[in-house]
Amino acid sequence: MTIGDPTSISTADSPTRPKDTGLKTIGIIGSGIMGSGLAEVAAGAGFEVILRSRRQDSADSMLSSLQKSIDRHVTKERMTQVQADALAARVTTCTELADLAGCDLVIESVVEDLEVKKGIFAELDGILGPDAIIATNTSTLPVVEMAMATNRPDKVCGIHFFNPAPVMSLVEIISPLTASEETVATACAFITACGKDVVQVKDRAGFIVNALLFPYLNNAARMLELGTASAQDIDTAMQGGCNFPMGPLALLDLVGLDTSVAILDALHTEFGDPNYVAVPSLRRRVAAGHLGRKSGRGFYVYGR
Ligand code: 3HC
Repeated sequence: MTIGDPTSISTADSPTRPKDTGLKTIGIIGSGIMGSGLAEVAAGAGFEVILRSRRQDSADSMLSSLQKSIDRHVTKERMTQVQADALAARVTTCTELADLAGCDLVIESVVEDLEVKKGIFAELDGILGPDAIIATNTSTLPVVEMAMATNRPDKVCGIHFFNPAPVMSLVEIISPLTASEETVATACAFITACGKDVVQVKDRAGFIVNALLFPYLNNAARMLELGTASAQDIDTAMQGGCNFPMGPLALLDLVGLDTSVAILDALHTEFGDPNYVAVPSLRRRVAAGHLGRKSGRGFYVYGR
C-alpha cells in the first residue's frame, strides 16, 4: 500500500471485518487533525464512531472536514455516494466523556501533556464498561503512566497513527509493561481491520518512527539556521535525493512545530541524547505562533 495511493482509502466494502475484532463502537477523543482522520479511518472500516470534543463547534468543524474528505473520495471515484453516506452516518459527536460509556475501544488523541492524558484516562476508567480498551495516540509519552492512572492497566495500550491518518499506511501498536497480550492482539486486529499495516513496539519515547525521524527533522532546522541552504533547497534536496514524499521543513510544518518541539523534549528527557535537543529557531518559531500549516505560517507561509 503506497502513501497517497487511492487504494489505501478504506471504503467499508467488507462490513464483516469489524466483527472479527470483537469491537463495534470506537470512541475518539480530541478535536485536532488526528481526531477527524482517525474517525474517517475507523468509520471507513465499518466501525461505529463517537467523536468527543470539549466544544460543540470543534466537533462540528471536525465533522465538516470529515465530510469534505469523503466528498473528495466520491469525486475521485474511490467511493460511491452510498458508501460515503454510510460512512458519514457511522460518525456521531458528543461533548461529554460520559457519552462514550458504550464504547468498546476509546482512542485518546488530545494535547501531548501527560497530566491531561492521565486525567482523561482516570475519568474514562470510571465511565467505560469493564472490558473496554483505552488507547492513546501519543507520539512519545510513556503509555504505562496513562495505564497506571486507571484500574485496568492490562487494557491500556498505544495506537499511534501518522499524519495524515487516512493516507498513511502504518500504525504503531505500543505495549506498556502492564498490557495484556489480549489487549495488544485486539488493538492489532482493529488496525488490520482498518486496512493499515501494524508494527509492534515497546513503550519507549518516540517508539520506532519518531525516534528515528525527529533527529533528522531537527537537523534540517539546524541546517537552515546555519545558513547552509535555503528552506526550499533543503526540502528539494531530500525529496529528489532520497525520494521522500516531502522535505523535512515542509514535514515539520505538517506535523506542527509545537508538537515537534514537544516530541523532541520528550525524546531528550528519556534518552539524554543531544541530537534530540530542539534547535533554538524551532522554539522561537513556536514562541512567535508560527506553528506550521495549522497557524498559516511555519517554515513556509500557507493560504488560509
Ligand atoms: N488529510 C487527508 N488526506 C490528505 C491530506 C490531509 N492532510 N493531505 C493529503 N491528503 C490526501 C489527499 O486526499 C490526496 O489525495 P487526492 O488529492 O487524490 O484526494 C493524497 O493524500 C495526496 O495528496 P496531494 O496530491 O495533495 O499531495 P502529495 O501527493 O504531496 O501527498 C502527503 C501529500 C500525503 C502529505 C505526502 O506528501 C506525504 O506522505 N508526506 C509525508 C507525510 C509524513 O511523513 N507523515 C508522518 C509525519 S510524522 C507523524 O505523523 C508522527 C506524529 O506522531 C507526529
